[in-house]
Amino acid sequence: NNLHPTIFVIFGGTGDLNKRKLAPALYNLYTEGYMPEKFSIIGTGRTTFTNEKYRDVILENINEFSRNGKVKKEKWDTFESNILYCATDITTPKTFESLKATVEGLQKEYGKETQVIYYLAVAPNFFPLIAECLCKYKLTEDEDNCRIVIEKPFGHDLESSKELNLLLSKIFTEKQIYRIDHYLGKETVQNMMAFRFANSLFEPLWNRTYIEHIQISVTEQLGVGDRGGYYEGAGALRDMIQNHLLQLLCLVGMEAPISFDADEIRNRKVEVLQAMRPIKPEDISTHAVRGQYTKGWVEGKEVPGYRSEKGVDKDSNTETFAAIKFFIDNWRWQGIPFYLRTGKRLNQTSSIITIQFKDVPHHIFSARSTETWQQNRLIISIQPEMSIRLQVQAKRPGLKMVLNPVDMVFDYKGTYNTDTPEAYETLLLDAMNGDQTLFMRGDQVDAAWELVMPILNAWENKKSLSFPNYSADSWGPEDAEALIARDGFHWFTLPLKEEG
Ligand code: BG6
Repeated sequence: NNLHPTIFVIFGGTGDLNKRKLAPALYNLYTEGYMPEKFSIIGTGRTTFTNEKYRDVILENINEFSRNGKVKKEKWDTFESNILYCATDITTPKTFESLKATVEGLQKEYGKETQVIYYLAVAPNFFPLIAECLCKYKLTEDEDNCRIVIEKPFGHDLESSKELNLLLSKIFTEKQIYRIDHYLGKETVQNMMAFRFANSLFEPLWNRTYIEHIQISVTEQLGVGDRGGYYEGAGALRDMIQNHLLQLLCLVGMEAPISFDADEIRNRKVEVLQAMRPIKPEDISTHAVRGQYTKGWVEGKEVPGYRSEKGVDKDSNTETFAAIKFFIDNWRWQGIPFYLRTGKRLNQTSSIITIQFKDVPHHIFSARSTETWQQNRLIISIQPEMSIRLQVQAKRPGLKMVLNPVDMVFDYKGTYNTDTPEAYETLLLDAMNGDQTLFMRGDQVDAAWELVMPILNAWENKKSLSFPNYSADSWGPEDAEALIARDGFHWFTLPLKEEG
């Protein structure tokens, strides 16, 4: 490939994200021929490691977490020679001197087109410090060849998000900033654009005339695990809705872009957020539901309630479940509800978007032929099943006219029989290619915060006395069912298939 020589500097080089996602993704890109001919990966952290010791650690991480299993010796031997370690204590700026020397040494060796990508895989309170040190040591001056990648959370609320954007904008141009929302790198999520804008079949129906309502549901069986400390200050609204779910909503709701240009697409997406109706304080109780898991049983094992998890306050006011009803005030979507739901310790791990179409205008079949009547649905399953299903009515075989809903299915496994890349592989490659399409722009992040702020404020002010609970392994608090049932609908789930 013709990628320019690249130096990756990973802040948090000994951290969890690098261990689980970044190192395996870079290795897979390498084995599949996507890395530039000349590249280096510099891990940084407070611990002191020799290059050799750090390479051993990375090898262990890749063997444990790569989707391709253990590394192949001959590939690893060449890959590892590109890995370096540079002890850098973020709180002691002087330690940036040796990082600077290493980066500049490599730049000299690789030539002036070398691009440097700083990846901030650290807690967000370090973002400002790192950005300032990079600036102070003049490591960010080549606008065309220097990028910064940051992970969510992008701020804690609208105000801090604006502050972060302001700080970054003093050091980097927007063209240099890559804000990762890993959902946008998922294969099925990227396919939403292909599905909508590479087919003529769906777009004419994609509006308030034919669609009745839309559901976006991202449920998880796992609890907060050892992330209690972070999660306690976040909650489901900040952790999932402000970013992943609202990004999915944008992909469903956006107007057709005129090209596949990154800013054109991001403009269309931000327009959706700007057209969304802010929830008024008096509507919070009917449009937003929260919940917190209590102890329960998952696959035969007793699991603790949220308030007993490590790092969590015993009287915690943090929601582990949220369901919200939104509207988009524009011509396409006026009056059509978008229901979003997400939570931990639920009955199923799955991410599904359901588009329910309106009923036929006139029924000609008898009540007896239509006992299992169901309106048409398009179900986009992001994970674990990766599929798109169109549910239609069809005649059941037999001498009588009996109708049944059936699925027309496109599923990735059956159609392509190939492994799909991890979201991080897609996103890291895009960052190397300078393609920002799947990354969040500052105004998108702010617009999303603006939408969730009224709910966050209302919930923060209403402390924990009557917190709506749900037991682990359930579908969340009853109020979430009521939120959608009031409008005559039900949350939709796909039955999980047995593997194998
Ligand atoms: C992260 C959240 O952004 O997304 C986690 O912080 C959540 O709480 C995770 O578990 C879900 O991602 P995925 O790819 O497993 O669906």
